Amino acid sequence: MRRPIIAGNWKMNKTPSEAAQLVKDLIPLVKDADIDVVVCPPYTALYTVAELVKGTNIKLGAQNVHFEKSGAFTGEVSIDMLKELGVEYIIIGHSERRQYFNETDETVNKKAKVILENGLTPIICVGESLDQREKGVTNDFVSMQTKLALNGIAGEDVKKVVIAYEPIWAIGTGKTATSKEANDTIEAIRNAVKDVYGEEVSEAMRIQYGGSMNPKNATELMAQKEIDGGLIGGASLKAEDFSKVVLY
Ligand code: PGA
Repeated sequence: MRRPIIAGNWKMNKTPSEAAQLVKDLIPLVKDADIDVVVCPPYTALYTVAELVKGTNIKLGAQNVHFEKSGAFTGEVSIDMLKELGVEYIIIGHSERRQYFNETDETVNKKAKVILENGLTPIICVGESLDQREKGVTNDFVSMQTKLALNGIAGEDVKKVVIAYEPIWAIGTGKTATSKEANDTIEAIRNAVKDVYGEEVSEAMRIQYGGSMNPKNATELMAQKEIDGGLIGGASLKAEDFSKVVLY
């Protein structure tokens, strides 16, 4: 059985004091959740949130990392910097980073390797555009993104990876994939991993759905066989909404 994982992607929201308030409100609401609960604040709030979640069941995630260890990379943040703060999960390859910040399958792969080598968990985002879905190439496209992200990574490490399937047209739009669409695409991703690594690995790997997931649709999405969790944007910015998704 795969352990469910619900992660909040706060994106570019919340100052350190606002982040502290959000996580203080969240802690009592999710304390009994028997799943992996992760919050991913912006870098500037990581320290504050790290202190507050110590000793709770909430884990800390970051929204990006650079693949080099250190050096002249103005504006970037390294894996050691995140590790020292207690970060355990790192989102990479989010469609917003692919679209606005030149994230490519190649950099996603480099980042995934660095994260795994350091014993942390990458949350690797994949997902098709509306045009791709309408043209019927969704499964091929997300399977290719997944294989390229995992290229050169050993099966034992692939088991630890979390994939977030996020149809781009469903992110922040209020439009969700139907639970069947989400389940079918996630099944295609799992099959692509099975082709390369075999069933033991593909069955161990967790795959989330993301894209306008909220308290209203979480129960149905989480009831799908292939869906192991959610990556939550908008609904993670309110403690009550996020806790309802966590307690789906
Ligand atoms: P959303 O964002 O829940 O606001 O659609 C999800 C994401 O981008 O991770």
